[in-house]
Order: sequence, then C-alpha cells, then structure tokens
Amino acid sequence: MQNIKSDFPILKRKINGKALIYLDNASTTQKPKTVLKALVDFYSTSNANIHRGIHTISEEATDKYEEVRKKVAKFIGATEEEIIFTKSATESINCVAVAWGQKHINAGDEIIVSALEHHANLVPWQELAKNKKAILKIIPLTANYILDTDAYQKLLSAKTKLVCVTAQSNVTGTITPVKKIVEMAHIVGAKVMVDGAQSVGHTPTNLTSLGCDFFAFSAHKMMGPTGVGVLYIRSDLMNEMTPFMYGGEMIESVQEKSATYRTGHWKFEAGTPNIAGVVAYGAAIDYINKIGLKNIADHDKELLAYAKKMLARYPQVKVFSPSKPQDTGAVLSFAIDGVHPHDIATIFNDHGIAIRSGLHCAEPLLQKLGAPNGTARLSFYIYNTKKDIDTVEIALKKVLKIFKL
Ligand SMILES: Cc1ncc(COP(=O)(O)O)c(C=O)c1O
Repeated sequence: MQNIKSDFPILKRKINGKALIYLDNASTTQKPKTVLKALVDFYSTSNANIHRGIHTISEEATDKYEEVRKKVAKFIGATEEEIIFTKSATESINCVAVAWGQKHINAGDEIIVSALEHHANLVPWQELAKNKKAILKIIPLTANYILDTDAYQKLLSAKTKLVCVTAQSNVTGTITPVKKIVEMAHIVGAKVMVDGAQSVGHTPTNLTSLGCDFFAFSAHKMMGPTGVGVLYIRSDLMNEMTPFMYGGEMIESVQEKSATYRTGHWKFEAGTPNIAGVVAYGAAIDYINKIGLKNIADHDKELLAYAKKMLARYPQVKVFSPSKPQDTGAVLSFAIDGVHPHDIATIFNDHGIAIRSGLHCAEPLLQKLGAPNGTARLSFYIYNTKKDIDTVEIALKKVLKIFKL
C-alpha cells in the first residue's frame, strides 16, 4: 500500500498550503490514473453509441461496455444476465421500488428496513409504503451500534414482503449480517434488497452465497467514475418485474399506440447509458483486483483501529462505532460536545484534511444516535495511511484548543 498515493493525481493537490489528506471516501473515492486513462482512451479511440451500430467503433464500444458487465458479475459472484447498469446506487434502489414494488406490494403488506439506512434505501420504501398503504417497520440497533437481530426476528411475519438493509452503514461503519438477514427473510417468503454502496469496494462480495434478491451499488465509491451504478436482480425475478424507464434500447417492437419490451436485464436499460463511465469502471475493477479486496479490507481494519485508538485518547470525543473490528468497515463517526461537526470539518480543512460532517443522508439514524447536528466522519481507503491519521490528531487538538475543551 506504501506507493499507492502516487497512482492518484488528485492527492498531489495542496489545500490551504497543506498536502491534501482525503478522508471522505464514504462520499466518493478518488480515481487512479488507469481509470482516468480509460476514460480519455475511450473518448479518443472508440467513442460511439452501443448495441445499435453496425460500424467498427460502435461494435468496439459495445464490446468494451459488455466486457465490463461480465467483469462486474464476476466481481460480485453473479451472472452477467443479472447485472443492470444504472446511474447510481440510488437509481438502482428506486428501480426496484418501481419495477418490483409497484407490482408486488399491496395494502397491509409490511416492508422492513434497518435503522442504519441511508436515505437512498429508506425514502423509496417510505414512498412505496405510503402509495400502497403498506406498513414500514424498522429494525433497531443495539447499544453497540449493531442490528438487533432478535428484534428483527420479531418483526418478521407472513405479512413481510420485503426487507431492505445496508451491507455497511455510511455513518457508524456497522457491517450487517446480510446472509443471516436474507435467510431469516426468505423463511417468511420475503424478498431482500441489499444496499452494497459502502461494502463492494472494500470487502469481497459473493451474491451466490449471500442469496439476496436485489443488490445495489455505485462505481464512484470504488474508484470508478461518477454516473455509473449497478443493480443486481436475481435472474428468476426479472420476468415478474415491469420496466423502470421507457424509451430506446429496452424495446422489442414499437407500434404507434403500443410497444413490447425486451426480456432480462435489457428491459431495465432504456436510453444511452454512461458508456465511457462503464468502460472506465472496468479499469477500476482491474485496479482493485490487482491490489486484492482482502488486502483492502485488512488495510481498512488497520487504519480504523489506529484512528479509534487515537480518538480514545480524547475523552471529549464520542465515537459512534461498534466495539468489535469484525463488525466495522472503513468509516468512523465522532462528535464533540459543544462543537458543531461543520466547525470540526472547517478546522480540518485548514489542515488540508477533507472529511464529511453533518447528517450523512441518514437523518433518522443521527436522531437515534442522539446527534441531531450530525457527526464528523473519517472514511478510509487504500491510499490513506497512519500518517494521515497523525495529521488528523494535530487538527483535532486544534479544534479542542479553539473551543477551550
Ligand atoms: C450506504 C449508502 N447507500 C446509498 C448511497 C447512495 O449512493 P449514490 O449517491 O452513489 O447513489 C450512499 C452514498 O453515500 C451510501 O453511503
């Protein structure tokens, strides 16, 4: 991991005269040179629209795009027919809410979500429940910031039609027991939607083993470009779903007053996708594979432990993180009584450190954590080092000094 920073041109930047220390990876990650090159190469050599062209560069563009579908499928233990490209994890989840939810959720049905959810895996279900007169239930957290699986068991019943859960929280870093959650849901016949936005770029994912029905994530949180998302739909469910958007590409035949649609994943990809973005996303997956997800996960754990140990030296700092390393990913939220998280982020920025502060698109969770103003959040990736965390400590001391704490 030592020389990795040099693969990321942006990390050469100075912020307020200091070297940029980027610790906002849960929001979006930086991109290595190979991903940037793949974007430029695509537009320089093979730019054409895909699937419909007979000419050489259209065929080349199609091959490159479809190659990445195979790569993504292999990366998460799925088949290429189960992979749909969207613009983001958010769009992927909304696709399920519309294309599956509108047809399968009825009045009186129950949808279970966890207390850890990002708004992207909460609000679409609130809306669906409201429109269908269904009931939304929430899996609570334990005092140790992990999901209360006993409470979850009690929420499940024959009325449960869908369970929506994050694989890893973007606020507490909590890693959820997805396999167990899926098994329990399937016993009552419910489907499971997993939000993998924070986990896929950090730890190995095998959907065949997890057994979930839907899985969503974004390329930009794993060194790929923005504007590319992935939705996995288990192949046997696709035929029971309606299209999410209508237009070119997804049709079989169109008459003046009616149309028929393609089957399988094609049905969900209307219009021109982010072709260059998908192609460059392939380079991001190659880059991750070269480093190895196991090495990335180990590196995350090492930095998390180091940062937690550092923060524990300051009794003024409250961390919101499970106690066991195996329950926690590369995210560490903290708060200081009497200091607004935005002030912490501003002082950190003076030191060249980029962190996220506030509600992290998880307002109900922050309320439950007793942090209505939000938290300051460190989130790590492969290019971060213990030295970065040493600089965080210097900035933290400055915060405490300014606020006389
Ligand atoms: C857990 C989680 N889910 C979903 C999302 C939404 O991702 P996107 O904004 O790429 O759609 C995020 C983004 O921060 C996230 O952290």
